[in-house]
Parts: sequence; structure tokens; C-alpha cells
Amino acid sequence: MSISCGLEQLAAHQAIHTSVTADLDAAMRLLHVSMRSGSHNEAYELAGVIVTIWTERELWHVHTEEAALYRHIPAMAPLQRDHDLMEQWVCEARSALEREGQVSAFVLSRLEALAALLHTHNQEELRQLRLSLHDPL
Ligand SMILES: [Fe+2]
Ligand SMILES: [Fe+2]
Repeated sequence: MSISCGLEQLAAHQAIHTSVTADLDAAMRLLHVSMRSGSHNEAYELAGVIVTIWTERELWHVHTEEAALYRHIPAMAPLQRDHDLMEQWVCEARSALEREGQVSAFVLSRLEALAALLHTHNQEELRQLRLSLHDPL
């Protein structure tokens, strides 16, 4: 595989996933605690942090993959749909958060859906990367 973005390196790619998901999972746990305790302002701030992590770290990662990795590994093409959903749901969560000024049921549902999608997406992406390393293009 003649890719030089670093994402073709399994360990390096996995480390990026681990770092982003650990921070997102920790922030989601804090968000749930805030929601349960009725700390609405804190929950609002945390939701903003989560949207920022998604935008500045995960979506940045996604764009790099699309530009430099996916086009070299055709088996990854179906995973593009996950990236599209991530973009859409992050945009919807950010817009609703700004519009409503609180963590509504809709915002929470989008953030939870994103968290679930991220884990399954990352697992499948690394599985495809492992397969491609055994069967280089
Ligand atoms: Fe991805
Ligand atoms: Fe990735």
C-alpha cells in the first residue's frame, strides 16, 4: 500500500481512535452525571465540549481518512456512510444546542447515537485495515 498519511499504520491509527474515544466517553459520562443531578448549565457546557471534540478531532480524522486512506482500500467504501452520518449528527447536535440553549432530549439522543456509531465504526475500520495489510494493494 503506497500511502504516507500514517493512518495505514495499524498501531498509530488505533492510538488515534483510543485517544478520541476515551475523551468522548469520559465527557459523555460527565454529561450523564450532570443531567441526572439537574446541573443544566454544566450539562450545556459539557455538551459543547463534546461537540468540539467531535468537530476538531474526530471529524478532522474522518476527513484525513477520506482524503488519504479510503481511496486506497476499496473495502472501506461502505464505511463512508458512517462518516456521512457523523457529519450530519454533529451538525444537528450543534445547531440544536445553539438554538435551544440546553441539552434537550434531541441533543442527548444525537450525542448518544454518535458515541455508539463511533465504537462500531472504529472496530470495523481497523478490521478492514488489518485485512488490507494481509492482502496489500
Ligand atoms: Fe473512519
Ligand atoms: Fe479511523
